[in-house]
Amino acid sequence: MAIAVYPGSFDPFTLGHLDIAIRAAKMFSTVHVVVVHNPSKKPRFSASQRVQMITEVLSKEKGNFVVNSFESGLLVDYCKTVNADALVKGVRTNVDLDYELPMAQVNRDLSGIETVFIPADPIHGFVSSTLVKQVADLGGDISKYVPQIVAEGLRK
Ligand code: PNS
Repeated sequence: MAIAVYPGSFDPFTLGHLDIAIRAAKMFSTVHVVVVHNPSKKPRFSASQRVQMITEVLSKEKGNFVVNSFESGLLVDYCKTVNADALVKGVRTNVDLDYELPMAQVNRDLSGIETVFIPADPIHGFVSSTLVKQVADLGGDISKYVPQIVAEGLRK
């Protein structure tokens, strides 16, 4: 049975991310949702807070999920450790694809692992973690864009 790794900063985990995780779980017997430290980003939530929120959100969904964080090293090493068959990435626009394609190619070059791109549902097409944080900071309603527990965390 196939194992997938769905990595990202998830700062915070949005309804778009949730949709991709749920759809990946229909294709893979296990989906590792992995909070990866991205040194080019200053996170709003600590990795353990993100893991906690994602775990709570996914506990209500169908699918076999493992939620983890990965602080340093190559993502492909995490994939090897868990015997992953594929990486999963959500793609909203061609901008996402331009960003994701070289990562998919280098990950395959390094380890042979394939990346499966899942097209975002257009309903979440404009939702990004960055926009959600900005709207929340300026007092806007973000309840349509993120799970409830994330909205509560952002309001604090
Ligand atoms: O949500 P993000 O920040 O766009 O996710 C990018 C992420 C964390 C998946 C990417 O930066 C990554 O894979 N980092 C791990 C380090 C690594 O393996 N780098 C080399 C191949 S991309």
